[in-house]
Amino acid sequence: MENFIAYNPTKVHFGKGVTNELGKIAKTFGTKVLFVYGKGSAVKNGYYDKILKQLTDADLHVVEFSGVKPNPVTDDADAAIKIGIDNEVDMVVALGGGSVIDTAKVVAAAIPAKATSWNVMTHKVQITKSLPLIAVLTLAATGTEMNAFAVLQNHQTNEKIGWGTAFSYPKHSFLDPEFTYSVPKHYTSFGISDLIAHVFENFFGIGEASLTDKISAAIISDAMHYAPLVLAVPNNYDYRANIMWLSTVALNGTTAHGRKYGDWGVHAIGHTLSMMFDTPHGASLSVAYPAWLRLHKATIAPRIERLSELVFGKADADYFILELEKFFISIESPVRMSELGIGKEKRVEILTLMNQNKVSGSVCKMGNTEHEKVLGLMYGDTV
Ligand code: NZQ
Ligand code: ZN
Repeated sequence: MENFIAYNPTKVHFGKGVTNELGKIAKTFGTKVLFVYGKGSAVKNGYYDKILKQLTDADLHVVEFSGVKPNPVTDDADAAIKIGIDNEVDMVVALGGGSVIDTAKVVAAAIPAKATSWNVMTHKVQITKSLPLIAVLTLAATGTEMNAFAVLQNHQTNEKIGWGTAFSYPKHSFLDPEFTYSVPKHYTSFGISDLIAHVFENFFGIGEASLTDKISAAIISDAMHYAPLVLAVPNNYDYRANIMWLSTVALNGTTAHGRKYGDWGVHAIGHTLSMMFDTPHGASLSVAYPAWLRLHKATIAPRIERLSELVFGKADADYFILELEKFFISIESPVRMSELGIGKEKRVEILTLMNQNKVSGSVCKMGNTEHEKVLGLMYGDTV
């Protein structure tokens, strides 16, 4: 087992009606709120009204930034930062999925520094503090509600990068599974693919830790168990609750304990597709993961076999990859580039950006040759 620090300062409020406490808690952080949300789902489904009422009933002054897009962009973050600075806000409240909460994390760090989002994310500006962030999660997937990471796209530099600081954990996160009843089937599936991918990224890093390995396998098994149930009955409280908590625990540090670092090469591949084609994050991962496993099977065979034994009761790498692919297909999360609508004529363009952005992993390194091979496998070529 590798040395590690277990630390997570986010206070999670989980369950039915938990947002009823939000106003009271927000009031402890000041009087002026920057309220950030997405393109429409929060308003359409009544979550916006609920949270706004909490804030106004607590006599808080609210300014808003709405319209954060999936695969969020630095331009939106910069517009929100300006509103926050102009109105001298004391805190940020984010209502949405990963895209909204990630944007809010960068905004909360950039406002006190009066900096642009990109200067913050590329560490050109040193961050020493962040405005308090309160997150209300509406989509189970990324784990952002209980971690310090944010991922934004910069269309000027053609990069989608991750960032995080010790100050970027949400102070409070409200997780009411009922807020996820309205998530459409495809995004429910992509969220499940994403949470499974987070467990993999840590598992295929460096460090074998018996308990963490078993927790990791349990998360994957439970996700595979609840996935068909929640897709069949989207407004079942227990199904949504289980998926919601699984996605939080998949990337809140738990699956990294006892490991030195994860691999994260598949996320780097996925970010390239999201950057170029606006591919939903989880959909990019269900295409890339089976391909990546096939490419690196020889290097990490003992780890794949271990996970296969824990999840499927059979220590066999080929079996594991096939079962994983079958699972993604069963929940209609794509497994080939054609399902993402990305034709083979894009191959060269994708390879160029992968190369430019130095797409690689920590354990399974990738250069031009590996990029070509993994992309080929994603298109359905054989090894
Ligand atoms: O924009 P609105 O109208 O709100 O619609 C959203 C969006 O279209 C919709 N949605 C969200 N909650 C809903 C809902 N629709 C109906 N009912 C609800 N309750 O779902 C769509 C996708 O939302 P988005 O926030 O983009 O999805 P997700 O949570 O999967 O976030 C993806 C982003 O997070 C990043 C990804 O790269 C991507 O940019 N990630 C963040 C991580 C982190 N901070 O730790 C780690 C991840 O690996 C990932 O990279
Ligand atoms: Zn992810």
